[in-house]
Amino acid sequence: QDQLKAMVAEAAKDEVLKNMAPGGILGVGTGSTANLFIDAIAPHQSHFAGVVSSSQASTDRLQKHGFKVLDSNSVQSLPMYVDGADEIDPHGHMLKGGGGALTREKIVAHLAQSFICICDGSKQVDVMGKFPLPVEIIPMAHAQVARELEKLGGVVTLRKVKGTDSVYVTDNQGWILDVAGLSIKDPVGLESQINQIPGVVCNGLFARRKANVLLIGEAAGVRRQT
Ligand code: A5P
Repeated sequence: QDQLKAMVAEAAKDEVLKNMAPGGILGVGTGSTANLFIDAIAPHQSHFAGVVSSSQASTDRLQKHGFKVLDSNSVQSLPMYVDGADEIDPHGHMLKGGGGALTREKIVAHLAQSFICICDGSKQVDVMGKFPLPVEIIPMAHAQVARELEKLGGVVTLRKVKGTDSVYVTDNQGWILDVAGLSIKDPVGLESQINQIPGVVCNGLFARRKANVLLIGEAAGVRRQT
């Protein structure tokens, strides 16, 4: 799977260099596939005036490579945003946030004209929901938001730092509730419905802001879908 991720990261580098005019600003996602993409574009950073990042982890990696990381408030639009996904359905709706960066990912993706989703074939599903849906929340509301999410039929878990008993805290000082056991047949409706619960900051459904280009790593090579 790592090999497939490396393959799509390379393909995304080619896609970006080919379709983005030199001197533009690129949006960069978060996660293991996005990390490989950062490494792949690092030797080509003179092509970009700068980047906007979707997490502190990606910012650290980008800066280590020498990229100029810009504040998202300083840009009005980005030609492209490249990021992975935890699940993607046949319509290009995505479920994201396994890495905890969903809110900033949605903010940066919203600035972008084109979302290039990079993933290995295992992320493609008919109906999303097998991967628990991450919901970022305001900590004081965690119990009541959890109750509301349970009403949707999900099994709700407060995310902890892996292997510890400490609550996982996002870059925005929020907490994350992971909702397992959903069968997401109406991702557009569910995205809005969850956002209406007081105390919810953002949820991991990217149904309104879908992928424009999908690069899928498979044993036979990278498949490009638009
Ligand atoms: C980060 O918060 C996520 O949305 C990632 O984009 C997603 O989890 C994909 O991660 P991997 O590339 O590590 O599978």
